[in-house]
Amino acid sequence: MGATGLVGGHVLDLLLASPGYARVSVIGRRGLEREHPRLVQHVVDMNRMAEHAEWFAVDDVFCCLGTTIAAAGSQEAFRRVDHDYVVQCAQLAAQGGAARYLLVSAAGANARSRVFYNRTKGEAEDEVRATTIPGVTLLRPSLLLGERTEHRPGEALAQRVAPVLNPLMVGPLRRYRGVDARVVAKAMVRLAAEEPRGVRVVESEEIQELGGA
Ligand SMILES: NC(=O)c1ccc[n+]([C@@H]2O[C@H](COP(=O)([O-])OP(=O)(O)OC[C@H]3O[C@@H](n4cnc5c(N)ncnc54)[C@H](OP(=O)(O)O)[C@@H]3O)[C@@H](O)[C@H]2O)c1
Repeated sequence: MGATGLVGGHVLDLLLASPGYARVSVIGRRGLEREHPRLVQHVVDMNRMAEHAEWFAVDDVFCCLGTTIAAAGSQEAFRRVDHDYVVQCAQLAAQGGAARYLLVSAAGANARSRVFYNRTKGEAEDEVRATTIPGVTLLRPSLLLGERTEHRPGEALAQRVAPVLNPLMVGPLRRYRGVDARVVAKAMVRLAAEEPRGVRVVESEEIQELGGA
């Protein structure tokens, strides 16, 4: 899920390069101009995912879905993607017998937060945890670094500053260092190789360690 996005695109590259996956299914609102013998694409109105429960009968789910309040147009529209679609996908995957659900959430995700963004991410995490999926991995990256086509002025500035600030962020500040989207993807795919054992929360610093080098 989210294979047309920054992290999801890197995850897809890694999965298609990995012989461990006999089939890689991509579910999204638009197709990818890409072909591969092990790639299956499903294009769907995301509000109607439940009509295609059979697509979710997979082993591992890599959920890299997300938007911004600015791009979505309202808090409600943002929540539909970052909460509703994420949770529904987990529920369908649980019904389909998935062993693992790996979710790109965000640093600060907390259902009790006063900040709408963090609260929405935290609520989505909590509902994913509540499914019957044996292995739930919640990755909480800090600012994502990488090339995007969509213009996000605030993030663009933060991305320019990050290379200067990152080395200065030491001790408890390390967790706020920007993290390359490719590193998040690598960490995600590496974590999927582990035995599913309940819920694992992976903060940005650990993502950096797992996905680096
Ligand atoms: N940006 C950051 O610094 C940051 C930091 C921490 C965590 N995160 C989180 O990390 C995750 C991945 O981020 P990213 O930057 O890789 O995301 P991204 O590049 O914006 O990609 C998001 C994916 O979600 C899909 N999507 C968005 N809106 C949709 C909608 N209305 N209906 C269906 N699909 C929709 C996109 O599909 P289309 O291509 O069709 O739009 C795309 O595949 C997100 O959950 C994000 O919140 C981001």
